[in-house]
Amino acid sequence: MNPTKTAAWNNLTDHYDQIKGLSIADHFYRQPNRGDEYTLQSLGLHIDYSKHRLNQETIKLLVQLAEEMELSQAILAMFRGDRINRTENRSVLHTALRDLSSSSLMVAGEDLLPEIKRVRQQMEVFSEMVRDGSYLGHSGKPIRHIINLGIGGSDLGPAMVCQALTPYQHPHLTVDFVSNVDGSHLAQVLAGKSPDQTLFIVASKTFTTQETMTNALSAKQWLINHYNGDQKAVAAHFIALSTNQEAVCEFGIDPKNIFVFWDWVGGRYSLTSAIGLSIMLAIGKDNFKSLLSGFHQMDRHFLQTPLESNIPVLLALIGIWYNNFWGAQSHAILPYDQYLHRFPAYLQQTDMESNGKSVDQQGKVTSYQTGAVIWGEAGTNGQHAFYQLLHQGTKLIPADFIAFTKSHHQMGDHHQKLLSNFIAQTRALAFGRTVEKLSQLNIPKELVPYKVFDGNRPTTSIMAQQLNPDILGKLIALYEHKVFVQGHIWNIYSFDQWGVELGKELAGEILPELRGGLAGGEFDSSTNRLINYFREHQS
Ligand code: F6P
Repeated sequence: MNPTKTAAWNNLTDHYDQIKGLSIADHFYRQPNRGDEYTLQSLGLHIDYSKHRLNQETIKLLVQLAEEMELSQAILAMFRGDRINRTENRSVLHTALRDLSSSSLMVAGEDLLPEIKRVRQQMEVFSEMVRDGSYLGHSGKPIRHIINLGIGGSDLGPAMVCQALTPYQHPHLTVDFVSNVDGSHLAQVLAGKSPDQTLFIVASKTFTTQETMTNALSAKQWLINHYNGDQKAVAAHFIALSTNQEAVCEFGIDPKNIFVFWDWVGGRYSLTSAIGLSIMLAIGKDNFKSLLSGFHQMDRHFLQTPLESNIPVLLALIGIWYNNFWGAQSHAILPYDQYLHRFPAYLQQTDMESNGKSVDQQGKVTSYQTGAVIWGEAGTNGQHAFYQLLHQGTKLIPADFIAFTKSHHQMGDHHQKLLSNFIAQTRALAFGRTVEKLSQLNIPKELVPYKVFDGNRPTTSIMAQQLNPDILGKLIALYEHKVFVQGHIWNIYSFDQWGVELGKELAGEILPELRGGLAGGEFDSSTNRLINYFREHQS
């Protein structure tokens, strides 16, 4: 259904006209207790959505929109395994991967949980052996270095989680991630590593992705060179995470070293599947279980909580409010935690690969805006880079500020300083600094216009006690479901990614040209020129 045809959308358009003149400061003036009234506390998360250009009527209308779009039915359909990924004719069941409380999950006459549990156990046995040093490389030495070769969903999630949970990592194992087909990435990670103590994880759902297969072949060569051409070394030093067992075997990986998952796990939603093996190796099976439990608690919250107090639903609806009624083009993710500095990059794929669509579920070009540009950086670093534009630029950029009350490192007053910046920024963005305030400060008159902060820049503050596996699981699931809600309301298919295919195909056509052969001529003049420039400047 086209969301713009709902009564709620119409009402929201009128409502926008009525309240667009009210600033965030005006809303606080009218409702001084907004800080209490617009805060949700659930699952150990403190979500403050008071610093927004909205009131209770806005929330009511947004919830009405969700109801008219039959969101609750859509949530149920996903959890029970309906084939909601219609363009690929697949279920979307990443929630089953972390379902720690159900005894069965019947989909098309098959219970999915036993197989999920079997693979998780396989992962646990394997990771315990690597972690306790009983898993040995080809020359009988324990593994010290783990290198995950994958890209997109087979890289960003595990890399982000391993980084975020650094304090929980095994002290004697290094875990690296190589994704780029740029040989510099692999070369940099291999430098200084001893092949006889290195384990490669080839992580690829399809096991056909150019970048991953190229890196895997080069890594294999590096290993075999070390063992003077002994191919048998591959069995001890390569494992695979994939849905494509046939291709894995063809690559030469021992079938007992394959950790499988299923086509109903989307790449960008796969970190709780076998794709998370690097995480389990890094933090151990118990911490991995806490991560899954965090995910599962947020899944249950999403499934069972009424829309108006459902955290992912609320954040999604507020995003729609800015995207479709205020014309915001982007959304910033600003974690005040250095360990979360990869979180914005991870969410870029989750959100932009899911909702970067302009054709609706009926095959028609949408007449309204869909997915926002997601970007961000850890605070306080971003404050000294792009916050100038957030505060005084011409763009409206709603932002999520994320912080934790306890640091993993008690170091002087670093953490109080970090958090004072976190809180101060959301205050400055919301309330700004007026000409009247400036006039009390003895500012030279000609500088006043430059020092005025209009404020009225919306933020959501998300806080929790500490960045641990459980809280991280909840945070990730929160954003996964936020993306689902938005995609559903925009009436698009969030679980395919056809838009990445064309570039792949064209790269396949251009590669032979770069490898040699006749000079170009079959492409457009710009492409030909670029190909020729490459050829002429290689040596
Ligand atoms: O970029 C497209 C994409 O298909 C992503 O959706 C996916 O996460 C990534 O490539 C990697 O795919 P695979 O795990 O099959 O190598």
